[in-house]
Amino acid sequence: MPQSPANPPRLKVEHLTRAFGGTPVVDDVSLDVAAGQVACLLGPSGCGKSTTLRMIAGVERPDRGRIAFDGQPVSDERLFQPPEARSVGLMFQDFALFPHLTVAQNVAFGLRSGRDERDRRVAELLERVNLVGYGTKHPHQLSGGEQQRVALARALAPRPRVMLMDEPFSGLDNRLRDGIRDTTLEILKEEGAAVLLVTHEPDEALRMADEILLMRAGRIVQRGSPYNIYNAPADRAAAAFFSDINVIRGTSRGALTRTPFGEFLTPGHADGAEVEIVIRPQHLKIDFDRNGRGPNPTPAEGTPARGRVVRARFLGRESLVEFVMDSDGSRLTASVPNVFLPKPGTALWLMIRRDRCFVFPARR
Ligand SMILES: Nc1ncnc2c1ncn2[C@@H]1O[C@H](COP(=O)(O)OP(=O)(O)OP(=O)(O)O)[C@@H](O)[C@H]1O
Ligand SMILES: [Mg+2]
Repeated sequence: MPQSPANPPRLKVEHLTRAFGGTPVVDDVSLDVAAGQVACLLGPSGCGKSTTLRMIAGVERPDRGRIAFDGQPVSDERLFQPPEARSVGLMFQDFALFPHLTVAQNVAFGLRSGRDERDRRVAELLERVNLVGYGTKHPHQLSGGEQQRVALARALAPRPRVMLMDEPFSGLDNRLRDGIRDTTLEILKEEGAAVLLVTHEPDEALRMADEILLMRAGRIVQRGSPYNIYNAPADRAAAAFFSDINVIRGTSRGALTRTPFGEFLTPGHADGAEVEIVIRPQHLKIDFDRNGRGPNPTPAEGTPARGRVVRARFLGRESLVEFVMDSDGSRLTASVPNVFLPKPGTALWLMIRRDRCFVFPARR
């Protein structure tokens, strides 16, 4: 949706900052989430995701910055609204249902409406989370996945403007998780709240997010759609956050870097600058040796380089093959769909999809 003063985003956060004991934990974080949109705050443990969420919820005071819902400030230099005044739905890792209340009473907990309206809303939500007939049960009688759905219904019941979710799926069994993520996403979209979901799992963010906000050491280092974040990472660490990576080092001269795989274009890097060419395992192509001749160079894949298999493992959907390269003894890993398990010591040729490489300044 286009944004203008007349049409502000559902959730707007500007320059949010918080330090603990002099150490900045959330450092100048700004973000927008529109109604009906799911944004994922993604980053490694300790990078400040939960602290950001807690400030938006109103359970932690920012040192600096502004938070507004639909253009109305809920937290700024002068104002700090408590959580109950903010119209936020909260869902945390331990979704802590009230054990002494029934499922229906849990869902109705935050509802202030009259009894008929409340009963209608509870019935509607129990149907939506596929728990019709569970209203009179108690939490201890439910499975983990069922409890999670009750918690979702409870958080959504008062129709919050902003839904804040902190690792809400991490307590669940692996096999349950994908199904519950998809159902949850459908329900969130139907309800139309702006959703900010915290996770340290890239797969979860790719699956759930309209926009990913990649966070590191208190700062947002990159934001974009799952496709863009995955395919145009801002730096080596951003690339490595989503998959294993291969790194080929070289020196840029005249905007070209020579490697065992031929020359790579490295524009924007000074003469003599060390660069890292980063490629994901699925974008290395394997070809056969043909008595030491291998494949011919192509414009898209450049010069092939020969390596020997060190190890090959079958992972279900794909096989991972690790190589030691003839040219310099470096190690590279290629992934191949399905089954490909060459014996250790087998000579094979590797090629690099030029359009799938990322070039970054070398890390010191
Ligand atoms: N109340 C507090 N007092 C002091 N330090 C805190 C407090 N809350 C959080 N921290 C510190 O701030 C940093 C960020 O914590 P936060 O919980 O926001 O991280 P996170 O990104 O949610 O990590 P995780 O993925 O492990 O949940 C951590 O180093 C943490 O120890
Ligand atoms: Mg956390």
